[in-house]
Amino acid sequence: MCGIVGYIGTQNAVPYLIEGLSKLEYRGYDSAGIAINIDNQLKIFKTKGRLKNLEEILDPNAKSVIGIGHTRWATHGAPSNLNAHPHLNQSETIAVIHNGIIENYMEIKEWLIKDKKVTFKSETDSEVIAHLVDYFYEGDLLDAVYKAVDRMIGAYAIGVISKDEPNRLVAVRKDSPLIVGLGENENFIASDIPALLKYTRNMLLIENDEFVDLTKDKVTIYNSLRQPVEREVFKVTWDIDSAEKEGFEHFTLKEIFEQPKGVKETVLRRLNNKDEIVLEGVNFDAEILKNINKIYIVACGTAYHAGLIGRRAIEQFAKIPVECDVASEFRYRDPFVDDKTLFIAVSQSGETLDTLQSLREAKRKGARILSIVNVVGSSVARESDDLLYTWAGPEIGVASTKAYTTQLTAFYLLALYMGKLKGSIEEALYKAVINGLKTMPDLIQEVLDKGHEIQKLAAGQFNNEKVFFMGRGVDCDLAYEGSLKLKEISYINSFAIAAGELKHGTIALIEDETFVVALATQEKLYDKMLSNIKEVKARGAHVFAIAQAGNDQILKTSDEVFFIPRTMDELAPILAVVPTQLLAYYVSALRGNDVDKPRNLAKSVTVE
Ligand code: M6R
Repeated sequence: MCGIVGYIGTQNAVPYLIEGLSKLEYRGYDSAGIAINIDNQLKIFKTKGRLKNLEEILDPNAKSVIGIGHTRWATHGAPSNLNAHPHLNQSETIAVIHNGIIENYMEIKEWLIKDKKVTFKSETDSEVIAHLVDYFYEGDLLDAVYKAVDRMIGAYAIGVISKDEPNRLVAVRKDSPLIVGLGENENFIASDIPALLKYTRNMLLIENDEFVDLTKDKVTIYNSLRQPVEREVFKVTWDIDSAEKEGFEHFTLKEIFEQPKGVKETVLRRLNNKDEIVLEGVNFDAEILKNINKIYIVACGTAYHAGLIGRRAIEQFAKIPVECDVASEFRYRDPFVDDKTLFIAVSQSGETLDTLQSLREAKRKGARILSIVNVVGSSVARESDDLLYTWAGPEIGVASTKAYTTQLTAFYLLALYMGKLKGSIEEALYKAVINGLKTMPDLIQEVLDKGHEIQKLAAGQFNNEKVFFMGRGVDCDLAYEGSLKLKEISYINSFAIAAGELKHGTIALIEDETFVVALATQEKLYDKMLSNIKEVKARGAHVFAIAQAGNDQILKTSDEVFFIPRTMDELAPILAVVPTQLLAYYVSALRGNDVDKPRNLAKSVTVE
């Protein structure tokens, strides 16, 4: 989704803006632009396409000590030079960047056109902001932004500069991420920490309905009542290197290879020397848990797929009924949420708006909110009662990989923890899962070491346009994830199905050379999977199976088999997902796609 940056200081803003935007590229975008103040005139450079296109049209002599920049992910109006941000008011005195959606923009636009004779240049919702701020401007930019925001319904992180106040940058946030970076004689705004990390580690995390007034040496945050708000400085401890490629061709590949580390961090930080689970941010005890009679896990995309497996773990270990919903649907089915409900939000970014809105709805209805989140200090994290961070490190590739394996790990820990509190898990099972989790980093590494097998497979199949993933039990949940990964970065129309459902319709689509990825890691379902594999083979499919080492019978029924190291059935997805990620990666790279930034997608989906 859109990314915003802003600079105010004593240096030339342009390189800061371009560098900041380059660190936000991972969010997904189709046009980019900046606004600066040259000799008391606002000057805009913006263009459709990538940042390099923007750099090509920049005036090399353009210098300004203030500026705002934007990468746009098109929602209202196609990607184009005119729809790119920043947007100006009619007399070109105010420039605006915006991430989010102004839901009532049509109404405002019609009013501005009819009553105020404003001419619009773009099809965007965002342009109304520039004209509204202008309408209310009487010499105080902050005041005008307050009044403009008062008219707007929707989600926004906005940055505004005025030609008439060249030493002031104003920003406001509602439901779209916004941070402030504190420098020496310079201050910044951005959508996300990596954009600023080269310049400062000292950040202010801006909350909903807060306004920020920045000069080069002062930052003041105000609430919606215009009262100043104190905010503790958030010190970023992770390194910029973790947001760099470090010799890998793509972030996605680097992140796949970082999974042993991410899983290790997520597990080991939570175990004491007696192998008891210590969940620092989780504040409930046995008494509180006794009151919980149902759990909803709500998330989107890959995080939802992790939730499907989390559901099984919680039901098995903690014996509490769990439902798992996609966040964009959850609110609209009037779910049975009350004060006996635990609502679990899962999100890598912690900014996914559907997930956030579902969380808020559940909170309104009295649920206790626990979140499994990767980005420290993100909105989902801040709005939760209990918090379980996945220590995956920054995930830059749009395709979620290490976030998924660390989310699974967090779910197992949570399920065991609740099982212990409730006394619903046998000691032997508890110990077996803990020991299994501790071996996961090494076992993932073993899988990665055999990555060349997948590379070879991809070389033979990357042009195959008919792909199915199938599995049973936990492998069915994993099939959804494997298929999503492949389709989002390879653009192959793949889909996933519960293997037992094949005969109820989908098998009609199997024909010669259909590529079927058969997940067969579950001991108790292994024989049934062998039958399903035979069924598709009999109809001409090319079968690639993933199974646990030692289950050699599958070699007879499949064209290729990837063996994961032996582990408990419950933990197998943490290993079995890796070959599916590698498959998606190699197929995408062989097709010449932009693996890290696939078309039409955004890393952080901050619109509903
Ligand atoms: O940041 P989140 O985990 O909330 O994001 C949820 C989905 O948008 C995300 O998992 C998406 O499906 C990924 N592109 C999948 O690889």
